[in-house]
Amino acid sequence: MATLVGDQPALLGGTAIRSADYPAWPIWDDAERRILNETLEQGGWWQGDGSVARDFANAFARYHSAAFGMAMTNGTHTIEAALIACDVGDGDEVIVPGMTFVASASAVLAVNATPILVDIDPETLCLDATAAEAAMTPRTKAIIVVHVAGAAADLDALTELCARRGVHLIEDCAHAHGTFWRGRGVGSYGSFGSFSMQRSKLMTAGEGGVLICNDQALRDRAWAYADCGRVKGEWWYHHATVGTNLRMSEWQGAILTAQLARFPEQNARRNESAVALGLALDQIEGLRPQRRDPRMDSQGNYCFVFHYDADAFAGMPLRTFERAMAAEGIPMGVSYPSLNELAVFRDANFGPRLRASAPKVDYATVRLPNSEHAARSTVWIEHRILLAEPEDVLDVARAAARIQQHAAAIVAADSD
Ligand SMILES: Cc1ncc(COP(=O)(O)O)c(C=O)c1O
Repeated sequence: MATLVGDQPALLGGTAIRSADYPAWPIWDDAERRILNETLEQGGWWQGDGSVARDFANAFARYHSAAFGMAMTNGTHTIEAALIACDVGDGDEVIVPGMTFVASASAVLAVNATPILVDIDPETLCLDATAAEAAMTPRTKAIIVVHVAGAAADLDALTELCARRGVHLIEDCAHAHGTFWRGRGVGSYGSFGSFSMQRSKLMTAGEGGVLICNDQALRDRAWAYADCGRVKGEWWYHHATVGTNLRMSEWQGAILTAQLARFPEQNARRNESAVALGLALDQIEGLRPQRRDPRMDSQGNYCFVFHYDADAFAGMPLRTFERAMAAEGIPMGVSYPSLNELAVFRDANFGPRLRASAPKVDYATVRLPNSEHAARSTVWIEHRILLAEPEDVLDVARAAARIQQHAAAIVAADSD
């Protein structure tokens, strides 16, 4: 039977499943305008004279079940400050998962320590606790875990491992605002939890970061680093330790205060959508949503991620599938490469970092099969789809099903 033109995939000239766009990101309204204006008129303008950013960071920390929050410049500097506070530096090793944004590892290089790249669990895409333990040496000072696309790593196993081996757990929660594990916010389990508020994130001021923790001494050390080595209660120009300036501006704090007020409702909606979409995609042969660990109460979905098996799509390469989905009107992201495949590691382009006393790792020989496979076989979709009406969210599954139905024709057209 001839295929109707209307059934053709958009990539082959058919009508896209979606002509309307999904909700735009970022979302803001008069709440942001109001508080920005108030901050302007108060005249404080920076954390030295204002309390907007500080109050936001503490409120965000409480939302994530932690005692202290520090408002910083971005989610790379927050990891750097956490490492400094944990006394990680020259000669130390830090375990970092292969599947993450480069910042999780470059922050380790920034403090002159050696990132040890470790493989991930193939289903959650987060650090594999058993592989992490196998990679530990007497030089291991910390483990950085990344809750990839908001899916919590196995925090039971990782907190137990770090406590038993006496190393710090630093949670990189750049993707996981609103992820709760056994009733507590992620970021509150480790020595530190690090969040990014860059534009693509689940709560944003364009740029920004928050570091949370429960230990006052660690908090003081991290903030001293972020605030030029100052000591609370001492004279302004008393600088006791080496530091830098990682302070978030009051403008960012103002916007984030408004974003936080809106966040719980958005998080609940994204969760409902993600569960429904996962069930729908599971019906399509060759697609499998990223695993939601049942110990999670909610997942802050930085992206919606699913595994893609090209064999069920006539061998269609992942990149072609992504193009076909985008043509159907689905806003596509893309997986990170596995860290060991980045030029910075493969070619050891570390600039002035890792000189004489650092442990030598030949990253070109590091193999991370699960992480490398995930980079080539996972589909990442922007979180804004999850804020749409339920039927609109399910268009993602409809688009994938249509592409599968016409997979052979798409593959043939692609090779012409
Ligand atoms: C996992 C992860 N960690 C850290 C960061 C760094 O955050 P920022 O861009 O705010 O420096 C990002 C940002 O995309 C990230 O995805």
